[in-house]
Amino acid sequence: MPKRSSNSSRVLILGGTGRVGGSTALALTNLSPDLRILVGGRNREKGAALVAKLGEGSEFAEVDIDNLKALEAYLNDVDLVIHAAGPFQRTEKCKVLEAAISTKTSYVDVCDDTSYAWRAKSLHKKAVAADVPAITTAGIYPGVSNVMAAELVRHARNQKLGEPERLRFSYFTAGSGGAGPTILATSFLLLGEEVVAYVKGEKIKLKPYTGMLNIDFGKGIGKRDVYLLNLPEVRSAYEVLGVPTVSARFGTAPFFWNWGMAVLTSLFPAEFLRDKKKVRQLVGVFDPLVRAVDGIAGERVSMRVDLEFSNGRSTVGIFTHKRLSESVGIAIASFALAVLEGSTEPGVWFPEEPQGIAIEARELLLERASQGTINFVMNKAPWMVETNAKELGLGIYV
Ligand SMILES: NC(=O)c1ccc[n+]([C@@H]2O[C@H](COP(=O)([O-])OP(=O)(O)OC[C@H]3O[C@@H](n4cnc5c(N)ncnc54)[C@H](OP(=O)(O)O)[C@@H]3O)[C@@H](O)[C@H]2O)c1
Repeated sequence: MPKRSSNSSRVLILGGTGRVGGSTALALTNLSPDLRILVGGRNREKGAALVAKLGEGSEFAEVDIDNLKALEAYLNDVDLVIHAAGPFQRTEKCKVLEAAISTKTSYVDVCDDTSYAWRAKSLHKKAVAADVPAITTAGIYPGVSNVMAAELVRHARNQKLGEPERLRFSYFTAGSGGAGPTILATSFLLLGEEVVAYVKGEKIKLKPYTGMLNIDFGKGIGKRDVYLLNLPEVRSAYEVLGVPTVSARFGTAPFFWNWGMAVLTSLFPAEFLRDKKKVRQLVGVFDPLVRAVDGIAGERVSMRVDLEFSNGRSTVGIFTHKRLSESVGIAIASFALAVLEGSTEPGVWFPEEPQGIAIEARELLLERASQGTINFVMNKAPWMVETNAKELGLGIYV
């Protein structure tokens, strides 16, 4: 029998000493105080600091994900593992998922890389055979945005609004969103990848950080420029939801970071930006500057999902939070709780698959994940979410 459910379940968070993992630990403790949290990482000092914040129900687990024996020993002792020890880009093996399957431990990861996510999916049959429920790409974007898209499509089909023709994911994060250095590495590594999008059922490849659109993110954010990036929710939404045209775009603030991203894409050959070692050095150079500007830019995050129909109508979902670092933890914790509550069938699933998050569990997931948002709307006509916001400078909107 796999180990699952109950309020007093034990949860190991790999990358727990990082920004995303730490935020997840805090959110899980708030949402479900009886859970036992194991903060997994290599740095005892950072781990001890977080454990002190979390209180009695938590402990530090010194674990390197490259040490399989130690990892399996910890997995044998928990009900669920959350893998937030990125970056997932250019990582050849899904070691943590494989270990979760062999120890019959439920699994959630915050992967934001297409190749890694589909490599995880290729372990589906093994997970079914071991009776292990697993969800990949279960963060905020991808993650909550996939569930928003699935719900827009389901609502449209139920209400016979029209046949879904185009799905567009648009994301905005100010600065680094208050996330750790890994997110900067992730952004640079993504700039080295051709962007996959689908147009009328055909897969196309495009240059990263091109195809700019000016998107209205509504209340608290206003209109922002966003650019194409290679994100896993494009392929999973295309395959699972059956919408023929799908793309994902991302933009940041201050505006000059967007220019910087575009310049990096043109300046460095793709092979350079795909090299983890070189990107780590690049992060070392840029990180202090990004952190300094973060202080001014803030760390707001917004996701807008647009679904257009063949009859010309469209519907929109928006999710906006003042702090990405807080919101991402709440999102991951919501997925973790759904798995512990038995909403996930054995197998490896994307968030939009009904076997991953059961349709009847989606509302609770979105309700939990949207805690603390300043704007969360679903199934609205575009004119209902527009702001006519006026910029006052420094990215402040009224
Ligand atoms: N899907 C989403 O919505 C979403 C959103 C934001 C971020 N992410 C992803 O989340 C990941 C984490 O981002 P972050 O901002 O939290 O980064 P971070 O602050 O740099 O944290 C990364 C953590 O991973 C740990 N780690 C790295 N290699 C390890 C290993 N071999 N064994 C054990 N622990 C290891 C690090 O521990 P040490 O302290 O020991 O180095 C650190 O605690 C990134 O991959 C990012 O792309 C996803």
